[in-house]
Amino acid sequence: MEGLDIGSRKLEVNANREKMAGTKKTEMINRAQRRWRLLARALTRSPEPQEDAEELEPDPISVRRFTNFGLVNAAALENVIGDRESTWYSYAATIDRKCFAVDVREVNKSFTANELIGFNNTGNICVWPSEECLAHYLLSNRNICRGKTVLELGGGMSCLAGVFVAKYCKPAAVTLTDGNVTSVDNARCIVARNKLDTFIDCRVVQWERAAKDLRQDDVNANHVRQTWSMDWNQPESRRTSQAGLYDVILSADCLFFDEARLDLVETIFGWLAEDGIALIVAPRRGSTFEKFTEAAIERGFTARQREFYDPRVWSRHLELVEHSQEYCPDIHYPLLLELTKKQIKAPG
Ligand SMILES: C[S@@+](CC[C@H](N)C(=O)[O-])C[C@H]1O[C@@H](n2cnc3c(N)ncnc32)[C@H](O)[C@@H]1O
Repeated sequence: MEGLDIGSRKLEVNANREKMAGTKKTEMINRAQRRWRLLARALTRSPEPQEDAEELEPDPISVRRFTNFGLVNAAALENVIGDRESTWYSYAATIDRKCFAVDVREVNKSFTANELIGFNNTGNICVWPSEECLAHYLLSNRNICRGKTVLELGGGMSCLAGVFVAKYCKPAAVTLTDGNVTSVDNARCIVARNKLDTFIDCRVVQWERAAKDLRQDDVNANHVRQTWSMDWNQPESRRTSQAGLYDVILSADCLFFDEARLDLVETIFGWLAEDGIALIVAPRRGSTFEKFTEAAIERGFTARQREFYDPRVWSRHLELVEHSQEYCPDIHYPLLLELTKKQIKAPG
């Protein structure tokens, strides 16, 4: 048994080490340990790694010393009376001299054992660079979500891209999701504070469960999902419920979960409208981006990988390559994967 101290709690993590043999399993344990340490640091908010610095360095899963592209800047909201568990920030992006800002709640409490071990908690680490780049891309291309039903999967603690879309892109409706209850609760607080709760729905969605349900359905049946529409001419009106799939599905930095890869593909496939588009943003992280793309194609998607999709993201990337020692494109530069159900016609 291995212990992890988080605040006053001691969480027992059964690594079951002695039963495991072979390098692969040892690697898995090391990786899990590094993940836990990273998580512990995030939870205790200690900014720099201490003794375990060396060990954290090569982790392809979640190296977070490079924290953002500087495209969305956070400023603490001094005048907001938060609770002891959180601090409120204004997250702002300036694009073509127009400022886009939303209030974001950052949690700084110690998490309960349930919150920690109940589900993957990588999302409890504020906003990841992929989410930042996705938000910037969508704010720069506001037509993509205009009038559309939008779903974010694995949105983490802020669901930042989805919140920006809701506030500035005039979508028909937005659904923000994560598999982690704490993340979804935090997203609900953010949505309420930004007064977007009349047309944003926040829900816990775990891809394994969603995919299982979808697989049980008849492949040709209409997957009727509860979604919400909003009449933009009557902003005060409550949403009306309508059956439907999503026109745009968003996801940032969710491709490195090997066990959940096929379930995430299935969830996107099952919930995306026939003429919809999924915008998946993630760093390569070894072969994880490629494996996800292959799985998506195998499932029936047409996939387009884009390295250059946002001039500002790209120019920041070039600057960072040149000047930052912490920046490693493989684990930090988010590529854009566009998935559609359109069939490419064979020539002739
Ligand atoms: C690296 S974080 C990214 C969070 C957010 N998109 C961002 O970039 O700031 C990955 C997110 O995926 C969620 N997640 C991981 N596995 C999941 C699963 N099987 N089902 C649903 N969500 C999952 C985690 O809870 C976490 O919030």
